[in-house]
Amino acid sequence: MAGEIKTIGVLTSGGDAPGMNAAIRAVVRKAIARGVKVKGIKKGYMGLLNEEIVDMEPHSVSDIIQRGGTILGTARCKEFTTEEGQKKGADICRAHGIDGVVVIGGDGSYRGAQALSKQGINTIGIPGTIDLDISCTEYTIGFDTAVNTAMEAIDKVRDTSSSHERCSIIEVMGRNAGYIALWCGVANGAEDILLPEKYDFNEQNIINNIISNRKRGKTHHLIINAEGIGHSTSMARRIEAATGIETRATILGYMQRGGSPTCKDRYYASIMGAYAADIICDGKTNRVVALKHGEFVDFDIDEALAMQKDISKYEYEVSRVLSSSIQTG
Ligand code: ADP
Ligand code: F6P
Repeated sequence: MAGEIKTIGVLTSGGDAPGMNAAIRAVVRKAIARGVKVKGIKKGYMGLLNEEIVDMEPHSVSDIIQRGGTILGTARCKEFTTEEGQKKGADICRAHGIDGVVVIGGDGSYRGAQALSKQGINTIGIPGTIDLDISCTEYTIGFDTAVNTAMEAIDKVRDTSSSHERCSIIEVMGRNAGYIALWCGVANGAEDILLPEKYDFNEQNIINNIISNRKRGKTHHLIINAEGIGHSTSMARRIEAATGIETRATILGYMQRGGSPTCKDRYYASIMGAYAADIICDGKTNRVVALKHGEFVDFDIDEALAMQKDISKYEYEVSRVLSSSIQTG
């Protein structure tokens, strides 16, 4: 543990996520309330290496809680994955009087925080990603907004799909994880939900479902496909050829990362931001904030990165029962 913490930095890293601003605001205000100075590090680790560092005051974070994106900017930075880059980052922190850094981002950003901690700079991670793919936590900042944005968009596609009696494949984000696809698949009442963790690549099953649903009088067929499976456009072409039913692919893309955060994202990000500020001011290092069994807790980063999580078997089974596939299969 380092000595007294006088100044901390805060940065956002990796993909932006709605709610990151609420987390920044909470880190800044809670640390200042504890008598600790805060500096904003722009554009993630890249901004650290380029010394894009600004003083933050309570008013610097006014009028941001409702905004999507991150006021600090974010980036992916290759140089910081090298030991040389990490040493340089730690030296820059020391030159600016920064004793500790709060890092808001995903697993990759945690590895950066872990490296910075090894270089003698206290670090605390906050889970910020729409993908919900961080093993140690039940909640990640941005997921709630992203699934609500995607759900509303999918409802709209469904209207057109029903009117034209089409099959629609809608691809949602999530990198290699299927959480966004599972939640939207259930919430949008999809007929097929394709998750990277579960998909068996048996397209014939989907084709059979579409044909039997059409025979039963269904006017639409909604397939939620996860980004980790991808290839929605070619899948649509093959399904149309096999079923004779017009099939269209819609890739929702970056709209899922933007927009004003939901109440849940603003609230949880605020609590996690304050929690991170508290533990970094207490002198803790190499920790990540998490939600576990509904409680805000913190874990050692090394342990957090070694944890595994998977789609809940029960929730997946429910999704199968509620979609039409189980009735026809
Ligand atoms: P996320 O944080 O959303 O998972 P990335 O995986 O792109 O996003 O990671 C964000 C940044 O974190 C990278 O651009 C890099 O600067 C840093 N990072 C990722 N992996 C490492 C690593 N093994 N060591 C040090 N820094 C890393
Ligand atoms: O991690 C968030 C995310 O949007 C993923 O769902 C997606 O795979 C990735 O980031 C896209 O990253 P980029 O912004 O580099 O295209």
